[in-house]
Amino acid sequence: MSRVEGPDKVTGRATYAFEYDVPEAAYGYAVQATVGKGRITAFDAGEALAMPGVLTVISAMDPPELGDGGDPELAVLQATEIAYHGQVIAVVVAETQEIARAAAETGLRVEYAAERPDVGLRADHPGLYAPEKVNPAYPARTEKGDVEAGLADAVATVDEVYRTPILHNNAMEPHATIAVWEPDGTLTLYDSTQGPGTHRDIVAKVLGLPPDQVRVISRHVGGGFGSKGTPRPHAILAALAARAAGRPVKLALTRQQMYDMTGYRTPTIQRIRLGADARGRLTAVDHHVVEQTSTLAEFAEQTAVATRVMYATPALRTAHQLVRLNVPTPSWMRAPGETPGMFALESAMDELAVALGMDPVELRVVNDPDAEPQGGRPFSSRNLVACLREGARRFHWARRDPEPGIRLEGRWLVGTGVASSTYPVYRRPSSASVRARDGGYVVRIGAVDIGTGARTALTRIAAEVLGAAPEQVEVEIGDSALPPASLAGGSMGTASWGTAITRACEALLKDGGEEATADTAEEVANTADFARHAFGAQFAEVRVNADTGEVRVSRLLGVFAAGRIIEPTLARSQFIGGMTMGLGMALMEETYIDERFGDFLNHDLAQYHIAACADVPDVEAAWIDEEDPYLNPMGSKGIGEIGIVGTAAAIANAVHHATGRRVRDLPITPAKLL
Ligand code: MOS
Repeated sequence: MSRVEGPDKVTGRATYAFEYDVPEAAYGYAVQATVGKGRITAFDAGEALAMPGVLTVISAMDPPELGDGGDPELAVLQATEIAYHGQVIAVVVAETQEIARAAAETGLRVEYAAERPDVGLRADHPGLYAPEKVNPAYPARTEKGDVEAGLADAVATVDEVYRTPILHNNAMEPHATIAVWEPDGTLTLYDSTQGPGTHRDIVAKVLGLPPDQVRVISRHVGGGFGSKGTPRPHAILAALAARAAGRPVKLALTRQQMYDMTGYRTPTIQRIRLGADARGRLTAVDHHVVEQTSTLAEFAEQTAVATRVMYATPALRTAHQLVRLNVPTPSWMRAPGETPGMFALESAMDELAVALGMDPVELRVVNDPDAEPQGGRPFSSRNLVACLREGARRFHWARRDPEPGIRLEGRWLVGTGVASSTYPVYRRPSSASVRARDGGYVVRIGAVDIGTGARTALTRIAAEVLGAAPEQVEVEIGDSALPPASLAGGSMGTASWGTAITRACEALLKDGGEEATADTAEEVANTADFARHAFGAQFAEVRVNADTGEVRVSRLLGVFAAGRIIEPTLARSQFIGGMTMGLGMALMEETYIDERFGDFLNHDLAQYHIAACADVPDVEAAWIDEEDPYLNPMGSKGIGEIGIVGTAAAIANAVHHATGRRVRDLPITPAKLL
């Protein structure tokens, strides 16, 4: 199937959050702190308020009353203390967006008592501490067996430090909200979100309203990658601004503002120690992670969690340490945890293969476990080895040069690399309704399509259960007024929503009425106890210019085992999208922070480089048939995030194979290779 809303999108009829035509709208502009730490000592909006077209200014000097929504980043304008550069300190409301921005930039006099911010992540930072949990609720530390004994017994060992930088999500559609207060005191938000229902609940708490007095509409969303998985401060600002102005308010963040206000992936410093016997079987795995959070909240990326499921070993230790810096709170970004963690683990596995003189595919095969390495639960299904074998076949891996740095084509060094991918399978309670109408069906669920193709996949799921053609099924999503459903995150949308839709459609067929509903709370709560994960293998070929150090990825292949693939066209798009993002992470993406002032130095698409079409000439995704009866009625695993996991390691391993040079800190820039 092609996307059901595709024609609307390519003809411009699909309405995104900022585009709703609400009468009498005013415009809000978020004002941000220009120091990295300290407090506001004076704030004068007199000049701004005197500018024609300016309606009002709300600032932290006169804090609006807010409730606790559980996320300190949403407690906007509550304090004059500055936690990080770019924190919201005010909102200007005006007749046009241009006037609001001009007034914010020229009409405010703000004075600070500034202190030097602490923004540098270091492995020896005195503020490092061990959190109890990492996201979403894993123990921060696990240990089984004797790691030191395992390393002492090993024939070959690796002990290296890998680093990943700050990364920004950069969804194509900037974050935007329109806030409309109705005469009866209820609030409607047109918002670019990954979860209309979850956003409604949180926004309502922050504003001190019952949830049924808030409605969030997100019919079309231009990407999120996690940055729209939680409400961001501008949504609260828009609601406050609209209340103060007595008019609807439209508030969009600029691309530059998104860098400070919509989250980012924490940088990591990861020490990995591996030991193996002469046949390549692991004797010990030790993964220690240092990462950052803010002074406002603890966000603990689950960086070492994937290491607990990957390879068989008698001794396994994983641990995380955090430091609170004067930075925005890190947040969700595509495959949080797995993405940076698997760069480190899969790079280290490649180094181990080199140390053993062993093929890196074979090293992974001999270490494939029978059960979850940490915890011992059986896997519902695990086909990493099949992915490695199928990928090796398609990629012609057998022709690979045995030694690194020996193939030169013109002035280009050519090499290949491999890495594993993995992502957990989650499912959350959701509800749905289905109604027979005009010879067809209308399915309603508070799901959302953030560009994944969810609306289309759900149409297909419903059509299959109903025995109808997809054209006969209309799926209505993107509104918190629809039957409550989980958010689009954790690669669990299709599994969660598809279960609810399946059950509702089954009920309609069984009862034969006009309409049926289903709620999966009980079914999801009674899920059998298995380790459920999708797996994959990624293969990369790179060409490294021997004079300039420029790296071009000439081939990228991912082979995935993710249960039943519901819709091949959409699935391929998800996989290659993730891999493309992984390519950007490998070679280009890095947000620099100024250690003196605490601000992000590159904060737009001119200076933060993401992979573009010319960077990805040949990316292919494939999958193996995987039957798993322990997942959900569709037999599917999530596919939105696994594509990015392992890509950076596969490319880094290929760069090593091409050049003999191991780069352990991303991105792999020409300077690091030269
Ligand atoms: Mo995704 S980072 O689980 O929204």
